[in-house]
Amino acid sequence: MTDSNAALVLGASGGLAQAIIAELSADPEIETVIAVSRKPAPGSASVPDPAANAASTTNALMWIETEYAEPAMAAVVEQLQPFAGRITRVVICHGILHSDTLWPEKRLEDINADSLQTVFQANTVVPVLWLKLLHRVLKGQQRCVVAALSARVGSIGDNHLGGWYAYRSSKASLNMLLRTLAIEYARRVKNVKMISFHPGTTDTALSKPFQASVPADKLFTPEFVAERLCGIMTDAEIDGQLSYLDWDNKAIAW
Ligand SMILES: NC(=O)c1ccc[n+]([C@@H]2O[C@H](COP(=O)([O-])OP(=O)(O)OC[C@H]3O[C@@H](n4cnc5c(N)ncnc54)[C@H](OP(=O)(O)O)[C@@H]3O)[C@@H](O)[C@H]2O)c1
Repeated sequence: MTDSNAALVLGASGGLAQAIIAELSADPEIETVIAVSRKPAPGSASVPDPAANAASTTNALMWIETEYAEPAMAAVVEQLQPFAGRITRVVICHGILHSDTLWPEKRLEDINADSLQTVFQANTVVPVLWLKLLHRVLKGQQRCVVAALSARVGSIGDNHLGGWYAYRSSKASLNMLLRTLAIEYARRVKNVKMISFHPGTTDTALSKPFQASVPADKLFTPEFVAERLCGIMTDAEIDGQLSYLDWDNKAIAW
């Protein structure tokens, strides 16, 4: 197994992540898909233990359960050492827009410190911590493409509607962190290309409450988006830059 190429999907239980795992699992150039999640593998009877990382391997899928505090994340990266230099794809899928206790803001009065911190932690802090911790494992001779699922609403230039303060700004901040990381990776981990990816509105739990106003042909299936993303990652040039791209491989204004 240690001679084979691997793909890493972080935040693996979500709607887009599951479709991306399926797409990567069908790629003949990738022998192992490593999925990392707060949750147990789908269909697994194991009880999540937030204090420990439990790993299980089934055929080409290796599922690692973890919490997203830095020491636990570092322990996950330690488990990836056998794959050092052989991880050719990384997809970072973390993102929240709403939950039982938070909702995207419509107006100034909705802005709330706890909600801002919760959304920034999941959408911005967790992705950047992964890229801090992963650099030694990703470094190697093979090309490695890293895509973080961002969003077009994170574009400052494209913000004409306002609202959604926490989500918008967490994704804008993610983009800036990725751009800054890409500059340092270009010096230290030259085999990596970074992409900040907008999937388009996709039929998952995240977009469910907001789908009514989306025309049917603009609401994508996770499978369609996963195929697009994996194609873009396969074709991406290793140029030491961060690209901010949509599902159609078109550049988005910063
Ligand atoms: N669906 C859309 O229309 C749409 C549009 C634009 C951008 N996006 C972006 O695409 C990505 C995937 O979204 P999705 O549509 O697949 O949504 P989803 O089904 O709700 O999945 C959410 C993902 O976020 C992770 N997550 C949830 N709460 C978290 C927390 N507190 N801390 C860290 N991670 C947490 C989950 O990882 P675990 O496996 O660890 O639970 C899961 O993979 C997100 O970044 C989202 O912003 C989606």
